[in-house]
Amino acid sequence: MSRTWTLEELAALAGVPPARVRAWEAQGWLGPVPRGPGGGSAYGFEQAERCVELGGRGHPRRVCVVNQKGGVGKTTTAFSLAAALADLGRRVLAIDLDAQANLTTSFGFDPDALDLTSADLLTEEDVGPEDVILETGVEGVHAIPADIKLCAVETRIHDVLMRERILHTKLAPLYDRYHCLVFDCPPNLSRITINALVASQEVLVPVETQSYSIKAISDLTSTFTLLKSKMGHELTVWLLPTKVDRRVALACEILDAMDEAFRGRLLDPIHLDTNLVRAPLLCEPVTRAFPSSRAAQEYARLARFLTLSDVERRRWMDLTLAQRRRIIERVQAGADGAPEGGGEEAQEASA
Ligand SMILES: Nc1ncnc2c1ncn2[C@@H]1O[C@H](COP(=O)(O)OP(=O)(O)OP(=O)(O)O)[C@@H](O)[C@H]1O
Ligand SMILES: [Mg+2]
Repeated sequence: MSRTWTLEELAALAGVPPARVRAWEAQGWLGPVPRGPGGGSAYGFEQAERCVELGGRGHPRRVCVVNQKGGVGKTTTAFSLAAALADLGRRVLAIDLDAQANLTTSFGFDPDALDLTSADLLTEEDVGPEDVILETGVEGVHAIPADIKLCAVETRIHDVLMRERILHTKLAPLYDRYHCLVFDCPPNLSRITINALVASQEVLVPVETQSYSIKAISDLTSTFTLLKSKMGHELTVWLLPTKVDRRVALACEILDAMDEAFRGRLLDPIHLDTNLVRAPLLCEPVTRAFPSSRAAQEYARLARFLTLSDVERRRWMDLTLAQRRRIIERVQAGADGAPEGGGEEAQEASA
């Protein structure tokens, strides 16, 4: 599943004018550029990745998708986000840490047919990441799959020294080989989840707009506080409203309440969209299967946000949800169907 980029899209990824990309191409810095049917440049993932690097935009990110509540959209987010990041020229490693192995099957792998998985990485001293990493059908995305053996991991690592750091220690040599690591966690706060948190710098918490979601957030916050006090591990926490249905008045009220309570932390919501249910059945992320769907655009926007510099992110998050929504609508209306640039919305925010 590979895609091509236009010159303008590459320029937006690098944050430079298209003429600069042309110059890089002429100097051979984009590697051998494939030719399209008409003989013109058909830029692929390699060129997109090089433009990110040449533009100095490859800020490394390690993101854990976590919520102890089940069915809130963790796997959907990990899967869609990994692909959306690759669409931005980022090399991604997606790690499935849930025994249900939904992320693994979304990529089209059969967990029962796999020899080694994340469970072996966590429990077997002589299994390293290179033994478990698989190339996925989405160009630019590698995956560490999961299987049912994860159910036994908790007891198997119980007596291991530094058991919360196993994943971090094993994956650390890969941190500069990928722009982004995305962890999909199980619906609990087990030691496996703690391992993922310790290996991450930031946390994405998908939350549904229901009243009891707030309680789940406060339980999670205590875990993050504990990690900081016991291990000195500080995490940047983002809340991601999922399955938002604006036709339901209560959902809008809860969203507004969350915006008040978590100002600066509440990301732009992912709305209810059945394309997110259909895409994994095709073993394709929504951004590839239904690129013009609302969900595809929202996950693309989430990926763009995560790849922004810290300053750009702060500028965007200082706005209320409603202010951001107005800017997004303005950019979309102005873009006239053209692809949005890297920090276009954030730039607009600072204007
Ligand atoms: N924005 C959305 N709109 C519609 N359906 C969605 C959306 N996000 C997720 N879903 C659907 O909701 C269900 C649960 O999503 P998902 O598996 O991603 O949740 P999860 O938090 O990973 O669950 P678990 O805790 O069991 O691992 C799936 O059927 C998924 O397709
Ligand atoms: Mg899941």
